[in-house]
Amino acid sequence: MASASLLKSSPTVIDKSEFVKGQSLRQTSVSVVRCHPTNAPSLTVRAASPYADELVKTAKTVASPGRGILAMDESNATCGKRLASIGLENTEANRQAYRTLLVTAPGLGQYISGAILFEETLYQSTVDGRKIVDVLVEQNIVPGIKVDKGLVPLAGSNDESWCQGLDGLASRTAAYYQQGARFAKWRTVVSIPNGPSALAVKEAAWGLARYAAISQDSGLVPIVEPEILLDGEHGIDRTFEVAQKVWAEVFFYLAENNVMFEGILLKPSMVTPGAECKDRATPQQVADYTLSLLKRRIPPAVPGIMFLSGGQSEVEATLNLNAMNQAPNPWHVSFSYARALQNTCLKTWGGQPENVKAAQDALLTRAKANSLAQLGKYTGEGESDEAKQGMFVKGYVY
Ligand code: 13P
Repeated sequence: MASASLLKSSPTVIDKSEFVKGQSLRQTSVSVVRCHPTNAPSLTVRAASPYADELVKTAKTVASPGRGILAMDESNATCGKRLASIGLENTEANRQAYRTLLVTAPGLGQYISGAILFEETLYQSTVDGRKIVDVLVEQNIVPGIKVDKGLVPLAGSNDESWCQGLDGLASRTAAYYQQGARFAKWRTVVSIPNGPSALAVKEAAWGLARYAAISQDSGLVPIVEPEILLDGEHGIDRTFEVAQKVWAEVFFYLAENNVMFEGILLKPSMVTPGAECKDRATPQQVADYTLSLLKRRIPPAVPGIMFLSGGQSEVEATLNLNAMNQAPNPWHVSFSYARALQNTCLKTWGGQPENVKAAQDALLTRAKANSLAQLGKYTGEGESDEAKQGMFVKGYVY
């Protein structure tokens, strides 16, 4: 593995074409590349992260066949809204009871490869005193952590937002690694009805790239999530156009920040019409548009594409994922759902201890359906009416 000290020793000069094919993670002796002609200024290539091999392994584990991510990283405020919907108070004990229910669902690791936690949960125990991180590892689930600090208004924009959290991030990611996290998530948003302005897109892309570089330096695989919000009356072509722009900028800045693509995961929105558009799209159309977008913008070095559900119904999110997996893709195409995995589970629980088993069954039903969809084998048979209900909320704040 290249190390920082190599940069100090006399540089080995290699041919540019060799550099391109030699972007292997285990490059041992090459740290400085000079492009022809030889009298041109040399191009310095950053030393690889000491965690390079581990990052690749973690990303591959999360992106393993038939599995996806359970997003259970609702901030305390958002978790409070969820609990309020079933008549529970937003106390630490209630959040702990709910999260215990989720992580202890028997056999969850068969369908779920990673779980994104909120900071409170990373340091929390189950109701019977076991560390939540340990329970996940026993279930063969990689613990992850939400590291962004949420959205605030972006001054100078068209009423858009930007995502905070870079200050002090390196020390937080180092601490999260010590605590057992192995991947991270940073969610920023892009609004179509509000523009998006060039400023908002650039800010979103730059923030994601800085976060990704910092996470990799701490051994955490960054999930790169520029969510293109469902809000709006626009058609699917407009979403496609905006998504192309957003992902072009994201990859431009990821490359500028020397992020190792083999050690990241993406969390895109599917390409769909705006939630208030009258023309609805079939799963086949969503799959066609979304896969075209990915093929144009995402290098095959990226191991996994883990979609968010964004307010789609549980069944819709599963059907769309299934449609995308009808033929082999260059990347693992899977899910990282919060609402589309948890909705029926939460309602079934209703805060009653006697409903825990039924609620866990509901979670396992959704996890299994999405596991089948990851393999392209979901049929949609036997789904409840509850699972077919959309969950879009205008102006939704996560
Ligand atoms: P939803 O699947 O509810 O959109 O949540 C995704 C997310 O960003 C949580 O990590």
